[in-house]
Amino acid sequence: MMNKELPIGFMDSGLGGLSVLREAVRIMPAEDFIYFGDSLHAPYGTKEQSVIRDLTFAVVENLMKQGIKGLAVACNTATSAAVRLLRSMYQDLPIVGIEPAVKPAVVSSHGGRILVMATPMTIAQEKYHLLLEQYRDQADIVSVPCGGLMEFVERGKFDGEQLDTYFRENLMPYITDDTETIVLGCTHYPFLRPHLQEFLGDRPIRLIDGSLGTSMELKRRLKVKGLLREENRTGTVTIQNSSGSQAMIDRSYELLAMPF
Ligand code: DGL
Repeated sequence: MMNKELPIGFMDSGLGGLSVLREAVRIMPAEDFIYFGDSLHAPYGTKEQSVIRDLTFAVVENLMKQGIKGLAVACNTATSAAVRLLRSMYQDLPIVGIEPAVKPAVVSSHGGRILVMATPMTIAQEKYHLLLEQYRDQADIVSVPCGGLMEFVERGKFDGEQLDTYFRENLMPYITDDTETIVLGCTHYPFLRPHLQEFLGDRPIRLIDGSLGTSMELKRRLKVKGLLREENRTGTVTIQNSSGSQAMIDRSYELLAMPF
């Protein structure tokens, strides 16, 4: 049975979902959270859909066994591959997923180009195509597949020459004079935001992501079900990682504490 005292489960293919978790902790400070990063099997974004599904199911089953009252699939790739099925498997559990923040980008746009950086798998999924379809006639939206970019975050590399080279080779070809917004469509990328902003220099390009929106939706769903803790207490965050490496756990807590 679900009750208010249970923690909220978070999952990602690795450390990226911590960019969503930090928003959730900020807006739901009384909650306890369990975060599971599947770094052993990362990246998800260059794997087949069926493989991503099975990996996601295994992580969620593990969290369910530990006992959770709600779930955030804090990974765009796992969301697009598996969230619908998860909802049918765990019908009583409030489940939120994350998808590239295309809607907020379009709504606040001034007519310029919108780039969506995401994993190749997110971009290949039907869910993403349906999302783009809704806005096709309202904005010039261009997808930028960023295979390999999440690994910088997994390795704790947030700046440096290699990252510049990555941006130069994989992002710059898409940037036009009228590019106005870049959507960070993978939960690892917000940790690269400071360096990306620096790399972009004085180009007037906004960077946006869906982490706050996703956390707000999670809070709303918990509240509707009477599962939100609103008492005066400070909750806990427990981080688990399939790599079995203490260094990954330590890096996770560091990421969570990074100013943003
Ligand atoms: N953090 C994941 C996402 O939001 C993907 C990283 C990966 O490729 O595993 O899409």
